[in-house]
Amino acid sequence: MPTIPSSAPIAPGRRVRVFIFVFLIVAMSLRGARIAVAATAPHEMVVAESEPAARAGLEILRQGGNAIDAAVATSLALGVTNASSCGLGGGGFMLIYWAKTQKLYALDYREVAPAAARPDMYMRDGKPDEQLARTGALAVAVPGEPAGLDAALRRFGTMKFSQLAAPAIKLARAGFPLNPHMARELMLVAPIIGQDAGFHAIYFNPDGTPRHAGAILHNPNLAALIESLGDAPAERFYHGAIAAKIADFVKQRGGILTAEDLASYRPLWRDPIHLPYDGYDVYTMPPPSSAGVVLEILGMLSNSNLAGLGADSPAYLARLIEVMRQGFIDRAQYADPGFVKVPLATLLSPEHIAQARDRALHHAPAPPVAAAHDHGTSNFAVADRFGNVVEVTTTVNTIFGAKLMVESMGLVLNDEMDDFGVAPGVPNAFRLVGEENNEVAPGKRPLSSMSPLIALKDGRPALAAGGSGGPTIISGVAQVTIDSFAFHLEPETAVRLPRVHQQAQPDIVFVEQELPFHTRDELTAMGYHLKIVPELGAISAIRIRPGELRGAFDPLKGGGAVGD
Ligand code: DON
Repeated sequence: MPTIPSSAPIAPGRRVRVFIFVFLIVAMSLRGARIAVAATAPHEMVVAESEPAARAGLEILRQGGNAIDAAVATSLALGVTNASSCGLGGGGFMLIYWAKTQKLYALDYREVAPAAARPDMYMRDGKPDEQLARTGALAVAVPGEPAGLDAALRRFGTMKFSQLAAPAIKLARAGFPLNPHMARELMLVAPIIGQDAGFHAIYFNPDGTPRHAGAILHNPNLAALIESLGDAPAERFYHGAIAAKIADFVKQRGGILTAEDLASYRPLWRDPIHLPYDGYDVYTMPPPSSAGVVLEILGMLSNSNLAGLGADSPAYLARLIEVMRQGFIDRAQYADPGFVKVPLATLLSPEHIAQARDRALHHAPAPPVAAAHDHGTSNFAVADRFGNVVEVTTTVNTIFGAKLMVESMGLVLNDEMDDFGVAPGVPNAFRLVGEENNEVAPGKRPLSSMSPLIALKDGRPALAAGGSGGPTIISGVAQVTIDSFAFHLEPETAVRLPRVHQQAQPDIVFVEQELPFHTRDELTAMGYHLKIVPELGAISAIRIRPGELRGAFDPLKGGGAVGD
């Protein structure tokens, strides 16, 4: 087996930044042991990070709705059951395979920076204050979720919003169990949100302790908000009383989001990006997502006869780590295409991918590069009996977003501003270059790692995959795709196989604790600096074959795969 030269040691000046990064990766992976759950169904399926939310989608499919209808119902229900990860105060990406046209469509309902946002808005006394972008009113970007669901429904849906909202309203009113994943997240942020009356009423016991997994929670104010959207969610959310309330709430807390920002929010239909990989056509989200990195990773490993190596062999993992490193180096070139020219054609060209593969084989050192972070986000997929497939990743960014709830509406506000480079020209724990591409600007969408993916075989959907976990979404989605296609693994094996993550900076290979000791030892002997973590993100997938849908998910977020 070839020995790969040693990784560069971590310079002392970077230790603190590396420590913070490692802390965040560990914090977002405190989920315990990993057992994938799978289900098979012949006609239709929903896989989500919450079983009640998956059931909400299935209920709609059973009523005759299509995958887009079900996706709207699932999104709304997830916003109730997994409010620390997603909801109407956040935003997301939706990738749709529409059977009628046999085409893919990408919907960008990412949050945007308010009109008063400035590149130096997080600078205080000449220094960047990253906390301002993560917690509190200045962290809040204009939510995209209500407009995105509205746009998806208008273009491809068959049912009324109010019908699709019914399961979510019922969950919020009648009660839903606090899932173990959220209970753990709650513990992490309890000191920050415990004093807030809105959070307290839902997530805390009268004595101030966070509620435990299994407790039945109610969010009647959120039920009323969803109900008040009627059949015109975009019109009602972004204009009038709701918008005024949100703007007023943010203003009172020193934020800059205004009613005009809300009124001018628009979701965008974009052309999906794609690349061939081992006989499949893999589609994913274009910028402002950095999912192109997933394609670059796949491209570098295409036609490599990996099957002979073994999906958990050190030889394969070393190659994977090196191509990941090269892919993540390119991540710094991705940004909002409305503001920055992203050289997509070059990045996804056979020449560029061949060069990157070459560098990967020679373990070229990484230049400083932007690296994302955070936790809070939810992923789900729907396949319907008409042949449509929807893959959605939706987020409020970190746990409970900006840690702000508009109490009267039970609405959690995102902290998506933190996905921008926090200050121009200033290195921080996660971001050394790339800050210009991804610096704050009014109306700009922050760069995202969310990578919903649909792969076609001979023009028909074969796999839908996506995940949550900040930058580990990119590495996780790539690994599950490779495991499915190059190693022919069942979806439940693919999502469960211990993963690795290397994002160029810091020069550490994150490795899930279930990776066998001998494999870890061999990677260490090759010179890799490993950091063992309980888990790297959560990925779910549906494998699609004629007459057979096989869905698998990581149950540790309280997920479900349900179908008929
Ligand atoms: O868009 C992004 O890349 C981040 N806001 C995603 C955050 C995330 O996945 C946290 N995960 N659990």
